[in-house]
Amino acid sequence: MKNALLVLAVILFSSVVGDSLTKIGVNKLADEDVISDAEAKWRLDAIRKLWTERKRMGHTPLIKYQPPGFPNTIIYMKNETATPTRTLKHRFAWALLLWAITEGKVTSKTSAVYDSTSGNTGSAEAYMCTLVNVPYIAVVADNLEPEKVKQIESFGGKLKKVPVSQRNKEARETAEKTHGFYMNQFGNAEKAEEFHESGNFLYESTNVFHEILVQLKQLNKIPTVPDYFIHNAGTGGTISSVGRYIVRYGAPTRVVLSDSQYSLFYDYVLKGKFTNQTGAGIWKAPGVAGIGYGYDVKPVIYGETTSLTRNVIHEAVKMPDIATVAATRVLQEKGYNFGPSTALNFLVALFKAYQHKASKSTENQTIATLGNDPGDYYTTTYLNNTWVDQKFADFGGVQGMNCWKTQIQNSIDTGSDFYTKGLTLCPGEY
Ligand SMILES: Cc1ncc(COP(=O)(O)O)c(C=O)c1O
Repeated sequence: MKNALLVLAVILFSSVVGDSLTKIGVNKLADEDVISDAEAKWRLDAIRKLWTERKRMGHTPLIKYQPPGFPNTIIYMKNETATPTRTLKHRFAWALLLWAITEGKVTSKTSAVYDSTSGNTGSAEAYMCTLVNVPYIAVVADNLEPEKVKQIESFGGKLKKVPVSQRNKEARETAEKTHGFYMNQFGNAEKAEEFHESGNFLYESTNVFHEILVQLKQLNKIPTVPDYFIHNAGTGGTISSVGRYIVRYGAPTRVVLSDSQYSLFYDYVLKGKFTNQTGAGIWKAPGVAGIGYGYDVKPVIYGETTSLTRNVIHEAVKMPDIATVAATRVLQEKGYNFGPSTALNFLVALFKAYQHKASKSTENQTIATLGNDPGDYYTTTYLNNTWVDQKFADFGGVQGMNCWKTQIQNSIDTGSDFYTKGLTLCPGEY
């Protein structure tokens, strides 16, 4: 009895004092498995499947575009819609899942991966999770485009629909309750995206800018480093990984954030604003699908609600959303099947072309940007006139869109300033 009380006292004491150290002894070698053989095999199989997928993806093609009005500017658009899940999120979801499995956040015991998504990440995450046999649930806005719902389901994902501002909270809480893993693409992109060179190693760097440099060298037969890399931010993962790569290796390329009209990112990147304050009351729907910050009810918090790394961005440019809708239509008419976030990238590239011409420079400049997702996802929204009339009534609806289309087309053809003309000639308060 006395002994039992003593043991109990020791146990209680040690639990108060802290953990005890495993002792080294002749009869017990301190060598134990941290991960079971079965789990190690599962992880290795899953990682091999992901690298096979990466090889299958190869390099997405570069589209070369030379606007006739700007003979000194060449725009290269890396066509991410050529991936199996048709968006830039194919390479991103691959990187996220590889990171989560590598770090043991997703294991064979994970009940499901959950993420908050505006659709494209959801499709690609569904594809990648199905590849390694882990269930996937996309937490999406209740008005998500039907085309995107179909995509997520076709790659084996399930959906949970909630009001747009509740997506992150819902994904996190449901994952916690069900022994799942909340991927949090917004907070974790910066951990998952690669920004290193590959040297001569077996596995090529998965950084998208590395791929652009490799392709430009193949295409032009000499190393070609773009003067600008232009891209918008949803999670901020892509532009930050490119910015980190560019800054880390001392490339002369300027990284330009292309932002939407009511997004908080422009002010966050330039002035560090909105880190203590939400965008409630500022954000105006519909914005530009997949990008910008404003849907979230929380302030912009690096590593939690965003992966946008301010210090690796050189410039930020904002465009009116109605101009982005017009640019989506212009690209469609030219046979480029891309959605609105690509059109915003294109619009900022065109603006950079105009600035270059206005500076009277006779040098050639090269701009690299990304083709993010396909236009056919937006047949019921940005490509639908009734929808445009409803959502952009303050900017003249279809009439306002056509006004911007004229300015953009003129700029492409003659090198004029679509931005100032659009703001002065087209309807609406900007
Ligand atoms: C259509 C579209 N374009 C652009 C982006 C921006 O990419 P990122 O999340 O890497 O910032 C996203 C995703 O967020 C997207 O869905």
